[in-house]
Amino acid sequence: MERGLRLTLALLASLCILIDGSHYRGGIITWRPLNNTVQGTTTQILLHQRYFWYRLWSSFPAPLCREADVASQRPIVVAGAALICLANCATSPTFPPSISANMITSDCDNSTIIESWGGELYTNLTLHLTTDITIGYNSSAWLSALFKGSGGWSIVNRLNLVPRPDGFINSSPVTTTLPCILYPRNVPILHIVQMSDNDYSDYLLCRWANSNQTYNYDHVNECEGVCSAMPNGTLLFASNCTLQFILPQANIYYACALQIEDYYTNSSLEPMSSVPIQFLFYAYIIPVGACGTLPSIIGVRPNRACIGVPVGVQLNETIEVQTYCPGQTIVNFVTSSPIGMTHSVISNPSPGLWIMTLTWTPVENQLGPQGFCAGAVDNSTLQSAPWCITYLVGYDSPNLIHPILVQGSASPIGTVFANQSLFSIQATSAVGRPTRNGTNICFHLDTTNATVLCYDAGYSPNVIYTGYTIVIVTDITWTPGQSYYVTMDDGFASGSVFCHAESLAITDKTFWRFDIWNPAHSSTTTTTTTPPTTHTVTSLGTTTTSINTACTTSGIVVTTTNASTTTTAVTTTPPTTGGPTTAGPTTTGATTESTIPVFYPKDFENACQQPVAIMSLIMMIGFMPIHTLVMYAAFTKFSNMHKPSNIAARTRHQQRMKNILGPKKTFTRVSNI
Ligand SMILES: *[C@@H]1O[C@H](CO)[C@@H](O)[C@H](O)[C@H]1NC(C)=O
Ligand SMILES: *[C@@H]1O[C@H](CO)[C@@H](O)[C@H](O)[C@H]1NC(C)=O
Ligand SMILES: *[C@@H]1O[C@H](CO)[C@@H](O)[C@H](O)[C@H]1NC(C)=O
Ligand SMILES: *[C@@H]1O[C@H](CO)[C@@H](O)[C@H](O)[C@H]1NC(C)=O
Ligand SMILES: *[C@@H]1O[C@H](CO)[C@@H](O)[C@H](O)[C@H]1NC(C)=O
Ligand SMILES: *[C@@H]1O[C@H](CO)[C@@H](O)[C@H](O)[C@H]1NC(C)=O
Ligand SMILES: *[C@@H]1O[C@H](CO)[C@@H](O)[C@H](O)[C@H]1NC(C)=O
Ligand SMILES: *[C@@H]1O[C@H](CO)[C@@H](O)[C@H](O)[C@H]1NC(C)=O
Ligand SMILES: *[C@@H]1O[C@H](CO)[C@@H](O)[C@H](O)[C@H]1NC(C)=O
Ligand SMILES: *[C@@H]1O[C@H](CO)[C@@H](O)[C@H](O)[C@H]1NC(C)=O
Ligand SMILES: *[C@@H]1O[C@H](CO)[C@@H](O)[C@H](O)[C@H]1NC(C)=O
Ligand SMILES: *[C@@H]1O[C@H](CO)[C@@H](O)[C@H](O)[C@H]1NC(C)=O
Repeated sequence: MERGLRLTLALLASLCILIDGSHYRGGIITWRPLNNTVQGTTTQILLHQRYFWYRLWSSFPAPLCREADVASQRPIVVAGAALICLANCATSPTFPPSISANMITSDCDNSTIIESWGGELYTNLTLHLTTDITIGYNSSAWLSALFKGSGGWSIVNRLNLVPRPDGFINSSPVTTTLPCILYPRNVPILHIVQMSDNDYSDYLLCRWANSNQTYNYDHVNECEGVCSAMPNGTLLFASNCTLQFILPQANIYYACALQIEDYYTNSSLEPMSSVPIQFLFYAYIIPVGACGTLPSIIGVRPNRACIGVPVGVQLNETIEVQTYCPGQTIVNFVTSSPIGMTHSVISNPSPGLWIMTLTWTPVENQLGPQGFCAGAVDNSTLQSAPWCITYLVGYDSPNLIHPILVQGSASPIGTVFANQSLFSIQATSAVGRPTRNGTNICFHLDTTNATVLCYDAGYSPNVIYTGYTIVIVTDITWTPGQSYYVTMDDGFASGSVFCHAESLAITDKTFWRFDIWNPAHSSTTTTTTTPPTTHTVTSLGTTTTSINTACTTSGIVVTTTNASTTTTAVTTTPPTTGGPTTAGPTTTGATTESTIPVFYPKDFENACQQPVAIMSLIMMIGFMPIHTLVMYAAFTKFSNMHKPSNIAARTRHQQRMKNILGPKKTFTRVSNI
């Protein structure tokens, strides 16, 4: 009798959930201290929550989520929504009895498959350093149309402010995801979940959320209705948070509940914090006539880029998608955005190209990393691979310094020898190797734009990062008489903070260029031997002052080069005091304006007539071996510094000093070094 009643009640309850539209669709909870230095007995932390809801849930007041709600930052009101302390709460006397879990709208998706209403919320808290608690948000009604699982939800984070072994306050890992990722049925899938950490040296692992684990206190259930809800046989690689699976059934959702945890070292037994991430996959049958190629997001920025953005300046970001079949149209963008980022309608400026523009003005309390993800969906439900970028609010990306002086920021420019093998350029802040492959530096021939040589800065040993300087060691012999220019991809120089904010690409032919000395046109040659027609050859005989022999033996060509198109720069910058009476170099090329004063052979010749220049010439002759030695020393020192045994204590400490916790201050400090 009692049993029957209970069954009826249970049935009623489940019916209720169904009628109620099963509104929860996943989320993320992270946190970080505003200053990671221990001061007194409390610290201020910024708690971040992001949740995805079913847009058509009957309890949501009309109008339902629209793009206008993103712009107006409308709160998503869910009755009783609260994040609470779930376990060990006595360690945190100031933790509030409950924290609002009503998000601010950031993403609306009205496509019939996704129907998602997403938002996020930041909350400031002042907590004791004894805090070591499990916090979370649990209630009924996960999405019911799941392959496995359903019922209540639970999303749980361990918040531990007890100082780390290095004496600082920990920050949790951060992550981001799309609310729903579409994959075809019965196809092997490799899906990477993004994870990173403000504490540069932490070791991150991800694991399945579970219903009875020991790290979150009191065996708090981390996932309730969606524990192990992925298909049997799904593999999770903990160290890179990569999922490998096959979705066996179409037109249904699969819930994925993970915890990302940061360890002090790879041999630590317990993590320092635990961050939940829950989201959906959806399987579809590839329709007949669908394009054989998924749409792909091709730019403007590369996937997983990290870009520094200032506070209070409007950012205009363009997402470009390529489609590959006639008739294939982009019908929707699935997004996950920071608060206040608005999304334009999709435009189709040319066949096969689709564009959505994002605009966003970051505000002060968004300082630090802000993730954005997008996926483009075509008219056959094919979804592009997720494209995620991190905006590092309050940082400047380390841009490469425009070479403005001879042997200045970029070296060398002007005329060099055919065996020149050391190139270097400076950036505006300390830089390191990019974390992505595909960030090339390329040398091109000026006349044809042909690419002569490229190195992938992601891994090439020919590209060395030391402090503010990047050194490129080339291994080819340049062609005498030719001019070359250098281009660099987005991210060629990456900052040394957090996710390594990236430099912008350099594609301008005039940014960094150099000419190769042609011995056939040496200053010592008084008769000109059939020069290339584009060259204007000036013989030494036209100068009235005698030439320093040191100069001529250096073999600097006395021609003006066809490649250098900068008449303005040339006539203003070369040292002319005590110079010869000959006119400045005459260029036959176009007179395009450029900010690079190219060091013409003629200028070199003029410079050589002064003692100072002779010194620098002697230095230049000796430059290559010395530079090589210096670079070798720096490199050796660098690799020593990066020996695992040395790196442990010192680097960790240094990196922590530079970490995210004081974006503005940190940046100032870095730039003042
Ligand atoms: C979704 O919203 C866009 C504009 O925000 C609108 O153009 C489109 O018709 C809507 N689609 C549906 C299915 O409601
Ligand atoms: C939420 O979690 C707490 C602690 O595990 C549990 O006592 C409570 O019953 C849960 N509430 C719901 C609605 O599942
Ligand atoms: C949870 O784990 C504890 C110990 O780890 C064990 O004693 C308990 O039986 C487990 N409970 C369930 C429901 O598996
Ligand atoms: C998946 O695994 C569970 C538990 O091991 C098992 O009960 C179930 O039958 C399996 N399902 C399939 C489709 O193999
Ligand atoms: C992730 O790690 C696993 C195991 O270490 C490895 O086999 C796999 O190739 C990695 N995947 C990616 C995308 O790096
Ligand atoms: C831990 O890190 C050290 C140093 O980086 C490395 O030598 C060792 O192989 C790592 N151990 C594991 C289990 O990854
Ligand atoms: C973005 O566009 C707005 C309006 O067109 C403009 O005022 C602003 O300067 C742009 N921002 C950047 C960083 O170019
Ligand atoms: C959808 O795209 C396919 C090609 O991918 C095209 O053949 C088809 O006509 C499109 N369908 C509609 C309804 O536009
Ligand atoms: C949190 O506090 C800091 C410092 O007091 C303040 O700058 C920031 O705007 C606050 N953020 C929120 C979301 O209230
Ligand atoms: C970059 O490419 C190199 C060489 O192909 C490879 O060894 C390395 O694993 C790649 N790194 C990443 C992050 O893909
Ligand atoms: C080289 O590139 C520049 C600009 O990218 C272009 O104006 C020029 O026509 C190109 N020259 C050749 C020979 O392709
Ligand atoms: C953090 O606090 C320490 C100690 O008061 C202070 O020196 C440091 O400047 C603070 N950092 C930031 C980013 O405010």
